[in-house]
Amino acid sequence: RPVKVFVTRRIPPEGMAVLNKAEMCKLDVWDSDEPVPRAELLKGVSGAHGLICLLSDRIDAEVLDAAGPSLKVISTMSVGFDHLAVDEIKKRLVRLRCWHALGIRVGYTPDVLTDATAELTVALLLATARRLPEGVQEVKGGGWSTWKPLWLCGYGLSGSTVGVIGLGRIGMAIARRLIPFGVKRLLYTGRQVKPQAEELNGEYVSLDELLSQSDFVVVSCSLTPETQGLCDNSFFSKMKSTAVFINTSRGSVVNQEDLYEALSSGQIAAAGLDVTVPEPLPTDHPLLTLKNCMVLPHIGSATYTTRGIMSELTANNLLSGLTGASMPSELVL
Ligand code: GLV
Ligand code: GLV
Repeated sequence: RPVKVFVTRRIPPEGMAVLNKAEMCKLDVWDSDEPVPRAELLKGVSGAHGLICLLSDRIDAEVLDAAGPSLKVISTMSVGFDHLAVDEIKKRLVRLRCWHALGIRVGYTPDVLTDATAELTVALLLATARRLPEGVQEVKGGGWSTWKPLWLCGYGLSGSTVGVIGLGRIGMAIARRLIPFGVKRLLYTGRQVKPQAEELNGEYVSLDELLSQSDFVVVSCSLTPETQGLCDNSFFSKMKSTAVFINTSRGSVVNQEDLYEALSSGQIAAAGLDVTVPEPLPTDHPLLTLKNCMVLPHIGSATYTTRGIMSELTANNLLSGLTGASMPSELVL
């Protein structure tokens, strides 16, 4: 009996090749670069055994209900999983406890995007601190009149203190790349002390200490109830007025109104964001009127190689889950 798999978007060919090779699967692909409309998602998952989704698809009770009891595996092409209603997924596990093997399993893509995301974070940090978008704009707009000693000055990493909020795989990879620029101190905070921080002489400090000491504050934590809205008025008020704020995790970690206030009042020097709420950020959003704010369209993992590998891993997670094998990257709920 064929196994129905719904794929919510056109994904890289590497992943499609894995799926196409699996003869057991009857694929239903929303073959577009745009997100699947909600109604089509609900229709598409109906009776599906497997679901491949992206971080832009909210997988909640409504979707799980629409899928029905056939759904065995959800495989997301992302490391973040805040778009999955984990509690709802787990609830269904409990309800199905007598057929444990039929409980919903979840695959995701950690590790394979760590390097790409760390590189993008470094690029965003340097571009924000050294005001690259403003410089490009001045060149194109005729604002470049001559070499000026005090023009377009920013902040450098050499001799600086970097504070990382969430020193996980990606946070470590960011820190490892920043240190060779001459960073003097690496501070970090999060739920727990990370033994691997020792190799970088990272110091575990309170959030308040990190904010008051750091020249660069880099957010690399996952979105949880504890980190939702973490970067608010009180947070920014503890930062140095010369400090640069970088977020490549999830937009909801930041209160964007408070960030706008902090940037426009000079409370902090600049911000670089790869993630916002909503995504896309409307073109008339106040943050986009600020010269000291650089916003990227959530491209942390966007290298050709990484996206190919992510799609392959997503497909392999799905197939392993469908056959009851161990997944290459299973999210333990
Ligand atoms: C990107 O943000 C991801 O979670 O993979
Ligand atoms: C979070 O998932 C990380 O890899 O840092």
